[in-house]
Amino acid sequence: EKGGYEHFMLKEIFEQPNSIADSMRGRLDAKNARLTLGGIREQADALAEANRIIIIACGTSWHSGLVAEYLFEEFCRIPVEVEYASEFRYRNPVINEGDVVIAISQSGETADTLAAIELAKSKGAIILGVVNVVGSSISRASHEGAYLHTGPEIGVASTKAFTGQLSVLTMIVLSVAQRKKTITESKFKELLQELESIPDKIKKVLDSNDKIEYISSLFKDAANFLYLGRGYNFPVALEGALKLKEISYIHAEGYPAAEMKHGPIALIDEEMPVVFIATRDSSYDKIVSNIQEVKARKGMVIAIVTEGDVLIPKMADHVIEVPRCDEALMPLISVIPLQLLSYHIAIMRGCNVDQPRNLAKSVTVE
Ligand code: F6R
Repeated sequence: EKGGYEHFMLKEIFEQPNSIADSMRGRLDAKNARLTLGGIREQADALAEANRIIIIACGTSWHSGLVAEYLFEEFCRIPVEVEYASEFRYRNPVINEGDVVIAISQSGETADTLAAIELAKSKGAIILGVVNVVGSSISRASHEGAYLHTGPEIGVASTKAFTGQLSVLTMIVLSVAQRKKTITESKFKELLQELESIPDKIKKVLDSNDKIEYISSLFKDAANFLYLGRGYNFPVALEGALKLKEISYIHAEGYPAAEMKHGPIALIDEEMPVVFIATRDSSYDKIVSNIQEVKARKGMVIAIVTEGDVLIPKMADHVIEVPRCDEALMPLISVIPLQLLSYHIAIMRGCNVDQPRNLAKSVTVE
């Protein structure tokens, strides 16, 4: 059942080239520049005409919602708010006509997310579900939606569901952008081709597993970790930190790299590993400065960089290369080394990676 892997988590990390391809099958036709999302037909106009999109989720699913916020605003020019379901449901939120709610959930059973949907529905919002488990409560409570089609996720720490969510959300964003004509035909086509190439690029990242295992061995006894990223890689920093803390029990924090100066920089000394997600994108120069700031304070830098980068390897203590890719899709790739890093560190610390203490696969009580 684990397909020759020692743990479900590792199996599910390695499954991602296939599970992402599965999430696109029958939907993405890059050759003919066509996207078909059968589950969002009746509400397709409502989504394209939305005054505002409210994304509701918890945990890792909330992180994929943050990436979707950047995507929707960039390509569809629709304002987006990303909400923790637990906060949204208890604070008398403003929901107006023309607001569309997107609920993201792997299990489809998260109690807070379900309750937040019911609240939004009672105020007249349209609910679209981005869910993995077919027939789950959240999928039934949604008006329409798109399943991930990534197959069952058994490991408690979410891995392939996260990339499945990113894939499906990206397809939703691009189909809305095409409908609204807020994206050029050539950029649309280019991004479809890029999406199609993601599974092969992830395979390349997985080839770095041994190197990542080695780096893990150097940092397995650290008491704290900091994860920093900017732009599309900021939610990836949050996700990397969550993966590490939940399965290895090492305290970790994810931050937007520029926020470092507003507090966390005080933590940096020679004992502090800092993981930078520093791929080639529009904030590259900025993140290079942030790496310099950490090195100046003797922090240990592990950097995720685009292949061929010659600058960051001169500054960082360790680099992990990933293939080049449009920045809007980079989270699909840049999260993979972070999943592996947390997996190996947890194993080296003797932790039960598939069933971390105190955690349940679906949180059906608030
Ligand atoms: C982290 C993790 C959790 C879930 C969260 C939401 O690895 O798995 O943070 O993402 O409990 O669960 P779903 O997506 O099932 O609503």
